[in-house]
Amino acid sequence: MINAKLPRIWYGGDYNPDQWPEETWQEDMRLLKLAGIHVATLTVFAWGKLQPDESTYDFSWLDRVMDMLSAHGMHACMATSTGAVPAWMATRYPDVLRTTIEGHRRKFGGRHNFCPNSPTFRIFAPALAGRMAERYGKHPALVAWHVGNEYGGSCYCDTCERAFRLWLKARYGALAALNDAWNTSFWGHTFSDWDQIVLPSLLSEHLDATRTVFQGITLDYYRFNSESILECFKAERDAIKSATPDVPVTTNLMGTFKSLDYFRWAREMDVVSWDSYPSLDTPVSDIAMRHDLMRGLKAGQPFMLMEQTPSQQNWQPYNSLKRPGVMRLQSWQAVARGADTVQFFQVKRSRGACEKYHGAVIAHAGHENTRVFREVAALGRELAGLGDALVDSRVESKIGVLFDWENWWAVEMSSGPSAALKYVAQVSAWHEAFWSQNYSVDMIGEGHDLARYDVVVAPVLYMLKPGVARRLAEFVERGGTFLTTFFSGIVNQYDLVTLGGYPGELRSLLGIWVEEIDALLPDQKNSIVMKKAMGGLAGSFDCALLCDLLHAEGAEVLAEYGSDFYKGMPCLTRNRAGQGHAWYLATAPERKFLSRLAAFLAEEKNVQSVMRAPAGVEATRRTKGGQSFLFVLNHNDTAVRIDFGARHLTDLLAGGQVGGSVELLAKGVLVLKE
Ligand code: GLA
Ligand code: ZN
Repeated sequence: MINAKLPRIWYGGDYNPDQWPEETWQEDMRLLKLAGIHVATLTVFAWGKLQPDESTYDFSWLDRVMDMLSAHGMHACMATSTGAVPAWMATRYPDVLRTTIEGHRRKFGGRHNFCPNSPTFRIFAPALAGRMAERYGKHPALVAWHVGNEYGGSCYCDTCERAFRLWLKARYGALAALNDAWNTSFWGHTFSDWDQIVLPSLLSEHLDATRTVFQGITLDYYRFNSESILECFKAERDAIKSATPDVPVTTNLMGTFKSLDYFRWAREMDVVSWDSYPSLDTPVSDIAMRHDLMRGLKAGQPFMLMEQTPSQQNWQPYNSLKRPGVMRLQSWQAVARGADTVQFFQVKRSRGACEKYHGAVIAHAGHENTRVFREVAALGRELAGLGDALVDSRVESKIGVLFDWENWWAVEMSSGPSAALKYVAQVSAWHEAFWSQNYSVDMIGEGHDLARYDVVVAPVLYMLKPGVARRLAEFVERGGTFLTTFFSGIVNQYDLVTLGGYPGELRSLLGIWVEEIDALLPDQKNSIVMKKAMGGLAGSFDCALLCDLLHAEGAEVLAEYGSDFYKGMPCLTRNRAGQGHAWYLATAPERKFLSRLAAFLAEEKNVQSVMRAPAGVEATRRTKGGQSFLFVLNHNDTAVRIDFGARHLTDLLAGGQVGGSVELLAKGVLVLKE
């Protein structure tokens, strides 16, 4: 449970009383209560107000906010306010400012604007966090700590450059090891002194922000940057923990956010929280995948939906309104996939600057008579009606889809074979293949216990870090089904190619040798021709993007290419190893092929779908202590019929029993106790 003090699904949002005159606060309280909101995320960007100059702290106004929350029976998820540095700090200590990849030192402005290695930031930020923890640690309203805000970005200043050299020394010990790892004999880049190493920027190895000519250094910089920023989080967390060891600490993550290795981050957090901002045309499966990934970061522990908009964003090019019922549906989707909180950005629309048109519970009109408010209040009542029923229940899965940040970085900076190869898209396609048939999927990191799964799919497992191939082989030998795809097993953790033939360390497990990799032009296609029917897989399917030209070395060939000079070469293989099978899919197939293959892999291992349902109807299950809860979500714009057969389930939202054939309205939600 996130905090035993509050055993229910939290309902809350970012509330910024610091941006409003105090005489408006009481009315805010009335409206929050009316909306059923009981957790306010406070002080996300109030550093300048809490510490108006170097030696002055002013908590008086925050004391009043906290007491007011308590008086209304509400709680606080308190942020440490370090998401943006105050102006005085930037003026007095310019080392706190970031330097861009072009080499420009920034001036004061914006947010998330601190150099992660700045000594100034590393002193002042934990100092503020520690003071807040001491002051509010025992306050009855406090339920969680929210450190910083949406950490991210990068810095290329001299401080970071010096810190990078130290980080490299610790990683490699000897310069010779670094020269080997980065293959610096290429283009004669060999270093003879640590001080010759500069950050990989547009002034050095980069063609633009994402394209580098030296993968080794850029990969290490990404690792270093993710860890540097994590050090900032840890410094604040430690300051907080020494005053309030029992209050959970989180920071709001951003789903598939590229520059931070969230599996490493999650180890340092008590609970994962994240901000979900789909647009009108974001596939529902993408939202689901991100929830699963966020749940996976801490191996299934419930997470917090820290932010979502009740209606619209301001920062997308087209900020569509969430259609009636969609906010509710997406909130339940988060809970269905393992969230124990539903929180909004923001409680109240700001009056000026760039977020004044961002959706909020309280509109500029300032009252409760709005569509959005009514929808928020209705969901508040639903959540309140459930009490603690769902809290801390778990989503169980027998299928794991592997996701790895370092692999992501390496795949997309590889320079060849195809600019169109995008890691998240490949992972999403596989997740969608299972999701669309309501197979429960865990998104797992390399460090996870594979023994929990029957099927593990690792799309584009390009980089194999030490020990991973061995663990995958053990998983298969004990009876698991493992599948990987084109462009896998190619490099080690330094982005050095494993010599002796692709897919390197996976070659014997998969029983194949990939000789060449063809990149298809955007409109070019080939086909996958099944040699014999396997479940729903029969006949021929389109494929695109990349085609590995491979030879079976013991693996059974299940399908071959249908055209081009490599027509007849294998493109889907299966190799028996011990009790299990290792599959290789050598190209990127059309959707239909993936979903049928996904179903085949699941069925072969007897993994059941949560529920067979019409297209666009998502079903998940959460369980705890012998109880289980079925969530059925209709993402369609039309009503559907769901057949529960002879089962009788308790409808936790509408009350009563559900059985037989039931109509589920457009955007409708069922939460059923089984
Ligand atoms: C992020 C931030 C918030 C706010 C929202 C707007 O998630 O954390 O402060 O800017 O975006 O969508
Ligand atoms: Zn810096």
